[in-house]
Amino acid sequence: MRTQASRRALIKNAAMTATGVVIGAISPLRSHEAVAQQTPLQPATSKLLAGKVALVTGAARGIGRAIAIDFARNGANVALLDLGDPTGGMAISGYRLSNEREFDEAVAAVQALGVKALKLKVDVRNYTAMKEAAELTARELGGLDIAVASAGIAIWTTIEGSNEQQWKDAIDVNINGVFNTIQAAIPHMKARQGGRIITLSSIGGRQGVVGNGAYPTTKWAVIGLTKSAAIELGSSNITVNAIAPGPVNTPLYRSQGQLRSMGLKTFEEQDKVVGEFLPLKIKTALDPEDIADTATFLASDRAKTISGEVIDVALGYNASYTA
Ligand SMILES: NC(=O)c1ccc[n+]([C@@H]2O[C@H](COP(=O)([O-])OP(=O)(O)OC[C@H]3O[C@@H](n4cnc5c(N)ncnc54)[C@H](O)[C@@H]3O)[C@@H](O)[C@H]2O)c1
Repeated sequence: MRTQASRRALIKNAAMTATGVVIGAISPLRSHEAVAQQTPLQPATSKLLAGKVALVTGAARGIGRAIAIDFARNGANVALLDLGDPTGGMAISGYRLSNEREFDEAVAAVQALGVKALKLKVDVRNYTAMKEAAELTARELGGLDIAVASAGIAIWTTIEGSNEQQWKDAIDVNINGVFNTIQAAIPHMKARQGGRIITLSSIGGRQGVVGNGAYPTTKWAVIGLTKSAAIELGSSNITVNAIAPGPVNTPLYRSQGQLRSMGLKTFEEQDKVVGEFLPLKIKTALDPEDIADTATFLASDRAKTISGEVIDVALGYNASYTA
């Protein structure tokens, strides 16, 4: 039978091995107390993204805005990138993109959380401008650790009914814009010996969808791009993951274009029809903050071992996918 003194010595040695430091004044300890001391406890106020710098595209509104705000709440300095232009010269119909006032309000909301905010009025389709935006972010905010590609547009026409401009605009923003964001971020993340890239796919990137033409096509492509980048960048300690949201309460989803593509007239009808596909009944559609919760997790150290993943945040809609 071990003596009290030898038990104490064993516990002390275990604590030293686990933490690499000597824990002072450990006796007398019962074993569960020793285990508690081995785990360095974070102060309750410690923020998940403290000291990190994030670049979020499509940040003037909707999901991008919610992510920028949640990152700031968790201690990150944030560059908010958007067009802040209701059409951006694109074939937008059935809704509008964000405007300058919404963009300024999003920047102010981030600033109000006590972190640094940088407003970048840039088109994600512009390869050179995106590189400059990443450079400016790194220079002004002190590096770049996290990039979120949330800027996206919807086209509510069938494949047969889409015109050439609509098709090309969707591809240009939703695929090329994501590529531009990822490529612009890479050198800055490599300089930090690691990083987090998060893309926005959709439940429309997991299945065929009627009436949205190029949109689901682009969201499937985002998954391919995400997985390939995850493999390519893994050795640089850069994780790349996608979020595939279900219906989210943003101006994109709550739009005349979306109603038209579904053959509906009101948002009440929309909730009824879409609700049939959502096993979780806690709300009729997701809120942008629900997507931000997952983005903050993926951006944090807690997700350091997750890459090449697509996380469905969809009130369970995804449970009916075949795989
Ligand atoms: N809302 C949904 O139901 C839903 C579901 C699944 C996936 N998504 C995806 O999530 C992302 C965000 O969607 P949202 O609902 O927040 O849309 P939103 O329209 O509310 O916001 C998109 C933002 O992107 C910006 N933007 C568009 N084109 C741009 C460009 N070329 N350059 C820079 N900024 C540009 C817009 O100005 C706008 O502020 C999109 O990629 C979308 O496809 C949305």
